[in-house]
Amino acid sequence: MNTSNKKELPKHIAIIMDGNGRWASERGLNRTAGHEEGAKVVRKITNHCNNIGIKYLTLYAFSTENWSRPKLEIEFLMKLLEKYLKNELHIYLDNNVRFKAIGDISRFSKSLQEIIKKTENATKNASGLTQILALNYGSQDEILRAIKRLNEQDLEVTKQNFENCLDTSGIVDVDVLIRTSGEIRLSNYLLWQNAYAEMFFVNTFWPEFTTNELDDIISDYQNRERRFGGI
Ligand code: FPP
Repeated sequence: MNTSNKKELPKHIAIIMDGNGRWASERGLNRTAGHEEGAKVVRKITNHCNNIGIKYLTLYAFSTENWSRPKLEIEFLMKLLEKYLKNELHIYLDNNVRFKAIGDISRFSKSLQEIIKKTENATKNASGLTQILALNYGSQDEILRAIKRLNEQDLEVTKQNFENCLDTSGIVDVDVLIRTSGEIRLSNYLLWQNAYAEMFFVNTFWPEFTTNELDDIISDYQNRERRFGGI
């Protein structure tokens, strides 16, 4: 990507990584093979975003609704996440990447919760990209938890106080929302934070999504006029 482009880069890119299962089925493989391939693309896209100067990349890795999947697929995804995070720690540190999780991780196994906390802690001072994984994340759940926090702290209901109680507190709103695999819906993803996001729906299945395709989306974004309700 031509990073000398004077037009502003998006600060925050959020992705719904969809199509792992269909990618695998088309190849006569088990759905889990699609998730495994998808994890490689997570690494590639994260690295690329860090290299070109994106500040926040939020990836939908497991939703509050994904618990309704077959037990074996859920177990596989949990193991894959654990393996990914263990393996990634030195890569984050070497590349100045900060890691953060959003969502209610209390439903995960103790070992997965521990590796999430450990990775957040170890990378908290990194100043490059912040990679945010949405884990047991659902926007409606996040909003309800935020309202509970507001009540518990007896805070006035203002936009600022509410945003401070969201999992994404301190993180700028989404500039670019991407969903792969041809589905055109938000699926309970960052409903508040996507208020003025530019949206891109591409047909590519997540395991085939490339850095070139991301660069094309960023160029397209840079040519869009954002008015935020003004004229
Ligand atoms: C959606 O595809 C994908 C998921 C629900 C999980 C996303 C997980 C990964 C990309 C891999 C693991 C992530 C990390 C961070 C290591 P789908 O299974 O719904 O595909 P389908 O719609 O074709 O069935």
